[in-house]
Amino acid sequence: MAGVVFDKIRKCYGDVEVIRDLSLEIRDEEFMVLVGPSGCGKSTALRMIAGLEEVTAGEIRIGDRVVNDLPPKDRDIAMVFQSYALYPHMSVRENLDFGLRIKKVPRAEIDRRVGDAARILGIGSYLDRKPRQLSGGQRQRVAVGRAIVRQPAVFLFDEPLSNLDAKLRVQMRAEITSLQRRLRTTTVYVTHDQVEAMTMGHRIAVLDAGDLQQVGTPLELYEKPANLFVARFIGTPPMNFLRGRLDAGGARVAGDGFDLELVGKARAAAAGMGGRDMVVGVRPENLRGDRRESGGPTATLRLKVALVETLGHEVQVHGRLGDTTLVAKVEPHDAPAIDAEVDLLLELDRLHLFDAVTERRLTGGD
Ligand SMILES: Nc1ncnc2c1ncn2[C@@H]1O[C@H](COP(=O)(O)OP(=O)(O)O)[C@@H](O)[C@H]1O
Ligand SMILES: [Mg+2]
Repeated sequence: MAGVVFDKIRKCYGDVEVIRDLSLEIRDEEFMVLVGPSGCGKSTALRMIAGLEEVTAGEIRIGDRVVNDLPPKDRDIAMVFQSYALYPHMSVRENLDFGLRIKKVPRAEIDRRVGDAARILGIGSYLDRKPRQLSGGQRQRVAVGRAIVRQPAVFLFDEPLSNLDAKLRVQMRAEITSLQRRLRTTTVYVTHDQVEAMTMGHRIAVLDAGDLQQVGTPLELYEKPANLFVARFIGTPPMNFLRGRLDAGGARVAGDGFDLELVGKARAAAAGMGGRDMVVGVRPENLRGDRRESGGPTATLRLKVALVETLGHEVQVHGRLGDTTLVAKVEPHDAPAIDAEVDLLLELDRLHLFDAVTERRLTGGD
C-alpha cells in the first residue's frame, strides 16, 4: 500500500495550462475525492497518476517512488473508468482474470482472487456471461472487480457511476465506499457530484479551473468553506448569499432588505474591516420557518415566497429579499402560500462571512 503525492504539478496541453500548481498529499489507505465542475482538470490529474498523461512540471510520487517516467503498467495502480472499458468478446471471468494471466500469475492464485472478488461484489452467478448480457450496474461491478483482483497499491476511479440511473448510483456509491473501507486500498476518486464527494471521501479536494480551492473532511468543507467557490459548490440546496457592507464599527452588515448584527467569531473576524464589502453566507437549514427556540441569537428576514417545494420530511421555500432569492428549510406543515410574506429566522451564530473582493472566508459556521 502507498500514498500518492502531487508535488507542484503543472499540466499544459500545448499552450493551454489546465493544472497550474497542484500540491496534494493522499495518505496511505485514504479515500480522497477530487471534485469540481466539468473541465476543471480532475481527469487530467487522475490520468497523470495512472501514467496516461505526461506531467509538464513537478513530481508525482506513489509510495516513495517518483513515477513521472514510469510506464502505467509499472505503477501498481488500477483504474476504473466511467465507460467500464470491458472487453466485449470476453466473458466476465476472462475480463476479471485477463490482467493476471498477462502477468503470468499462477492459475491457483488467479482462481482465488477472482473467486474472492466475485464473492465480495456478488457477481459469481454470471461469470460466464458476456458484458452485453449484463445490466449497467452489473457491468460496473465487473469493472470494479477487475481493479480488485490486481490488488494494486492505489485505486483510481474516474466518474465510475455517471452512467447509472439515480437509484443504482446511490447503491453503488455505498458499495464502493464499504469496499474501500474493507480493503483499505488508497483510493483517488474523481467526480463532479458533490453528494458523491461528501458521502464517499475521507477527505475531499475541490478543484476549480485547474486550481486547488480547499482540501478537508466533508464536514470541514461544509462548515468552513475557504471561499465562495467552495461554499457554493458543497451543499444542496446551496448556501444563500447576501451582498452587503460592513458598518464603520465592524458590528453589522447591511444590504438590500437586511441589516444583521454580527456575533461571536464573525464579529471578531470583521474587526478592523469596517466599510468593506462583504458576502454573508447562510445555509438553508440556518434560515428557518419554525417557531422552535434555537437557543442562539437570531434575526428575522421577511421574504416574499416565490416557490414552495415539498419533500415530505421538509419544505424548501424560495423567497425574494430585495433582488436576491433565498432558500429556506421549513417544517412540512408550515408550508407558506406562493406570494405570501413570511418571516424567517436567520441563525446569526451560523452565518458565514466572506470578503466580497477576495471571495475568501473570514469566519463563521463554527
Ligand atoms: N488531450 C487533450 N488535449 C487538449 N486539451 C485537453 C485534453 N484533455 C483535456 N483537455 C482540456 O483540459 C481541461 C481539463 O480537462 P479534464 O481533466 O478532462 O476535466 P474534468 O475531468 O475535470 O472534466 C479541459 O479544458 C479540457 O478541454
Ligand atoms: Mg473528467
